Amino acid sequence: MSDKRKVLIFDTTLRDGEQSPGCSMNIAEKIEVARALESLGVDIIEAGFAIASPGDFEAVAAVSEAVNDCVVASLARSIPKDIDAAASAVAKAKRPRIHVFCATSEIHRTHKLKRAKEEIVRMAVEAVKLARNSVPDVEFSPEDASRTEPEFLAEVVRAVIDAGASTVNIPDTVGYAMPAEYGDLIRYLIKNVENISKAVISVHCHNDLGLAVANSLAAVRAGAGQVECTINGIGERAGNAALEEIVMALHTRPDIFNAACGINTQRIYPTSRLIASITGQNVPRNKAIVGENAFAHESGIHQDGYLKNRETYEIMRPQDIGVPASKLVLGKHSGRHAFKQRTEALGYSLSDDQVNRAFERFKVLADKKKEVFDEDIEALIDEEIEKISEVWRLIGVQTTAGSNTVPTATVTLVREDQTVTDAATGDGPVDAVYEAIQRITGIKPSLCDYSLRAITSGKDAQGEVTIEVEHEGGKFRARGLSTDIVEASARAYLSAVNRIATRTVTKTPKPPSP
Ligand code: KIV
Ligand code: ZN
Repeated sequence: MSDKRKVLIFDTTLRDGEQSPGCSMNIAEKIEVARALESLGVDIIEAGFAIASPGDFEAVAAVSEAVNDCVVASLARSIPKDIDAAASAVAKAKRPRIHVFCATSEIHRTHKLKRAKEEIVRMAVEAVKLARNSVPDVEFSPEDASRTEPEFLAEVVRAVIDAGASTVNIPDTVGYAMPAEYGDLIRYLIKNVENISKAVISVHCHNDLGLAVANSLAAVRAGAGQVECTINGIGERAGNAALEEIVMALHTRPDIFNAACGINTQRIYPTSRLIASITGQNVPRNKAIVGENAFAHESGIHQDGYLKNRETYEIMRPQDIGVPASKLVLGKHSGRHAFKQRTEALGYSLSDDQVNRAFERFKVLADKKKEVFDEDIEALIDEEIEKISEVWRLIGVQTTAGSNTVPTATVTLVREDQTVTDAATGDGPVDAVYEAIQRITGIKPSLCDYSLRAITSGKDAQGEVTIEVEHEGGKFRARGLSTDIVEASARAYLSAVNRIATRTVTKTPKPPSP
C-alpha cells in the first residue's frame, strides 16, 4: 500500500478550456471528450456553465448521464438562478457537484461587483447553503483569490466551509502569482483557517506569465489536494495549467511531491490528440509531454548518449504517456486487420464504421505514398473523429489555375442521399473552392486564419491545413488532410462548415459576475 498522498485531478477542459477562442464543442463532441476523460482517470469533470446558454445546460446534462465514475460539476455564480440551473443540469449525474464562485479581491469587489466585504461573505455563504440543498458535494471558488487580502480570503474560506463547502478552490484567475508566493498562500490558509481540514484545498491557475503549472505544483507541495487543469493547457487567454504536465511532474518526481493521482498516464497522448482534433487547436511541436518533439533527440551528442543509456537524456519514456513504442510503417499491402491493430496501439478505440472509413482513406493514401507513418495514420483518424458532426461530405474537387487563367473550382458534395455539384471562380484555387462550398451549402463563414504544414517529411508527405473561420460572431477551427493541398484546404473548410451546421452549443459570452 502506497503512503503517497492522493491528489485529485479536476479537469475543466469542457468549461474553462472551452472558453478559449475557437475551442467551442458541440454536444456530441463534449460527450466524446467526457468519455475520454473518464478513461484517462480524472476524478472530476467540470462539464460546463449551465446558466451560460441552453446549449451549455444541455451539454452538462448530457455529460452527467454519459459518465459513470467521475464527479460531474457545473459552474454557477453565487446567485440563485445560476445555482438552480446547475442543480438541474447535474441532477442525473451519479456523483453531482455544484461549483459556486464569487470574486473576492479588492479590484473585483470595487469595480465589478460594487459590494463591500461583508456582502461578499454573505453572498458566498448563502450560495453554498443553497447549493447544498440540491447536492451534497459543493465547491466554492473565491475568484481572483491570489490578489485578495490574505486575511479576508481566510475569512471567506472559513465561512464557506462552515456553510457546507467540501472543496475550496484558490484560483489564480489572472495568472499573476509566483510559485513561492502561491505556495505560501496555501500554507497561510492551512495555518490560519481553523476548519480547513473539513475541506479539500483546490488550486486553479492561469498561464498569463507561463507559470500555471509551476504555481499548481508549488501549491501541491504546500498541501493542496486537488488540481484544476485542462488537456493541452487550453483555456481563457494564455490557457490553464496543462493536465499532462502536472501529472507527469507528480509521476516523475515522487521524491519532491510524494503524491499520486488516479490518471492512467498511457491515455495522456491519445486524449491530447482527441482534444487537438476536436478543437482544431494544434499542439505546438515543442510542447512539454505531448508535443511532437517532446521525445525527439536531434543533436549527435544527445543521440549518442541516449543510445548508450536512454536515461542520459530521457526522464520519461514515450510509452508512459501512450506514445506507441515502434514507429511501424504500413504500406499498400497492409490489410484492414494490421491497420486496426495499429490504430489500437496508437491509443484509439474506434467504432467499426470509423475504422472502415479511415481504412478506405488509408488505402488511397498508401497508393500515393510508399510508406505510411504513424503520424499519417493519426492525422487520418483525427479527421475521422472530427466527422462526428458531418453533414456534408466531400466527393470531389477539381481546380484550374495558373498564370493568365481565372482560377476555377468544381466541387461535389453529398448531404444524406443528395449529391450536389457547383463551380465558382476566386482569387486563387483555394478561394474558388471555398466559394463553391459556400454556394452549395449556403453557409458563408469568413476565413480568419489559414496554415499549412507537412505531416511527415518527403515530397509525397500529406499536407495538413488548419483554418479558423468566423460565422455570426462565433469562431470555429478545423483541419483537413490530403496529399493534395487544395483538397486538404477543401476538407478543412468543409469541416468548419459542418461544425457551423451542427452547432448545438453556441459560444455565448460568459455572463457577467453578480
Ligand atoms: O479562473 C477562475 O477564477 C475561474 C473560476 C470560475 C474558478 O475559472
Ligand atoms: Zn479559470
